[in-house]
Amino acid sequence: MEKIAEKGALDKPVVGLPPTHTITLRVNGSEKKLQLAPWVSLLDALREYLHLTGTKKGCDHGQCGACTVLVNGTRINSCLTLAIMEEGNDIVTIEGLAKGDELHPMQTAFIEHDAYQCGYCTPGQICSAIGLISEGKAKTTEEIKDLMSGNICRCGAYTNILAAVQEVWQKEGGDINE
Ligand code: FES
Ligand code: FES
Repeated sequence: MEKIAEKGALDKPVVGLPPTHTITLRVNGSEKKLQLAPWVSLLDALREYLHLTGTKKGCDHGQCGACTVLVNGTRINSCLTLAIMEEGNDIVTIEGLAKGDELHPMQTAFIEHDAYQCGYCTPGQICSAIGLISEGKAKTTEEIKDLMSGNICRCGAYTNILAAVQEVWQKEGGDINE
């Protein structure tokens, strides 16, 4: 029987290589030039191209919050946005929060309150907590819980995460109403 390969049918690519674009992302204060296909998510650009693996991939479908980063100070699920859409924006990942050896107050609070177990959700939880406070929407403990509800923790460290967020929130002028 004649093989398909002998006809040359498999010698040529069926389609050409995907087109890529040169894009520049501002991540943690530095400009990074990347050559990306237009459908690469911000999450994959951070992890696979910039090797910033602090941002975690959980569901890749906007349902777990593990991939949360800050864009212009607002938290977003980086799996749900395309890298190409974030050109010109100020992207901050967990790697960009500490100033040298000095941790961000939210990182310190998570450590002090034991707000993690395996730690997989932690970068997203911390970015989300920082975004929550800067958004200024929470007025009560229930609202903090509600606004953090997009960040799933399989280990169930929610009580300690809440304590950490409340501490920083109060230090920044938040008034806890139960
Ligand atoms: S990986 Fe983005 S929300 Fe789960
Ligand atoms: S600490 Fe393990 S998933 Fe949250």
